[in-house]
Amino acid sequence: MNAKRFLDLADFTREEIVDLLALAQRLQDHPEPRALAGKILGLVFFNPSLRTLASFQAGMARLGGTSFVITPGHGTWQLEHRLGVPMNATAAEHVREGIPVLASFCDALGIRAFADGKDLAYDLAETNFNAMASLVDKPLINMESAMNHPCQSLADWKTLDDLAVAPRSKFVLSWVNHPRALPLAVPAATLHMAAMRGMEVVVLRPDGFALPGTVMDKARRAAAAAGGSITETDDRAAALDGAQVLYAKEWGSTTYYGNAEKDAELRAGLSDWQVREDWFARARPDSRFMHCLPVRRNVAVADEVLDGPRSVVLKEAHNRLVAQMAVLHRLLSATP
Ligand code: CP
Repeated sequence: MNAKRFLDLADFTREEIVDLLALAQRLQDHPEPRALAGKILGLVFFNPSLRTLASFQAGMARLGGTSFVITPGHGTWQLEHRLGVPMNATAAEHVREGIPVLASFCDALGIRAFADGKDLAYDLAETNFNAMASLVDKPLINMESAMNHPCQSLADWKTLDDLAVAPRSKFVLSWVNHPRALPLAVPAATLHMAAMRGMEVVVLRPDGFALPGTVMDKARRAAAAAGGSITETDDRAAALDGAQVLYAKEWGSTTYYGNAEKDAELRAGLSDWQVREDWFARARPDSRFMHCLPVRRNVAVADEVLDGPRSVVLKEAHNRLVAQMAVLHRLLSATP
């Protein structure tokens, strides 16, 4: 694995991802409960989590290792990440000390640090995550940064494989509504995953919510290399015509990035961007519905879809455990 880091699917070749998923399958079929005996995983969550937190702890335990969890400001010191500021407010410690100290206690470190959500260029550059990554001299895992969620995407790739979704089939990544602006990490990572897998990817989103050009360009290069394609539209019927997969995700306006008031005005008229069964009228009869969770029922996705036969959201979530065990094994095991 590249420099013992798992930060972005784009850091790997398609073959390396396929190989990692083969390891995930091997660990699922033939558990190795002592593979990481004596190893310690540190998990730092600057933002809330259910799946990522539980699946990393469970995965490490299933491989025979242990883990500790730090949620800065909740039972531990609040950590400042800005450089050059006088620390006379709530944060008692800076990441420049806190992160290397935590890394020194473990064999691998995972960090979750969402986008600031104020300045798109700042978040696109992964400024906060990269600043912390530069302080870690151990294997490092991106547990969701401003623009990436590779663990989710690795699990989603496995879910598509498990369901025998053909690499060339139509994959629609659709914006769906939410009470407030959410980060671009999952849509950006999902787009790249489907592109690397060689799928016919359609980004379906209303005006004001186009994914950033750099994200689209990076995915287009991956699609070209894998023999797939990327298009973008606001035409729901055309996008879903013949779709094999509908992957729904909420994200904030890119036109009004960092402007909560304008973002709210824009999304106020978009309540019909809630996935209902009639969205699948022209999709393939065996089409699947995906979402990374958590999801707001009857805002982003209707009950009838989440509880219906197309939904594979629980399988996606379970695959977080399986996929991350492969990542941990690759980063920390002495044997391949
Ligand atoms: N999908 C996902 O990352 O879930 P959590 O935010 O609960 O970890």
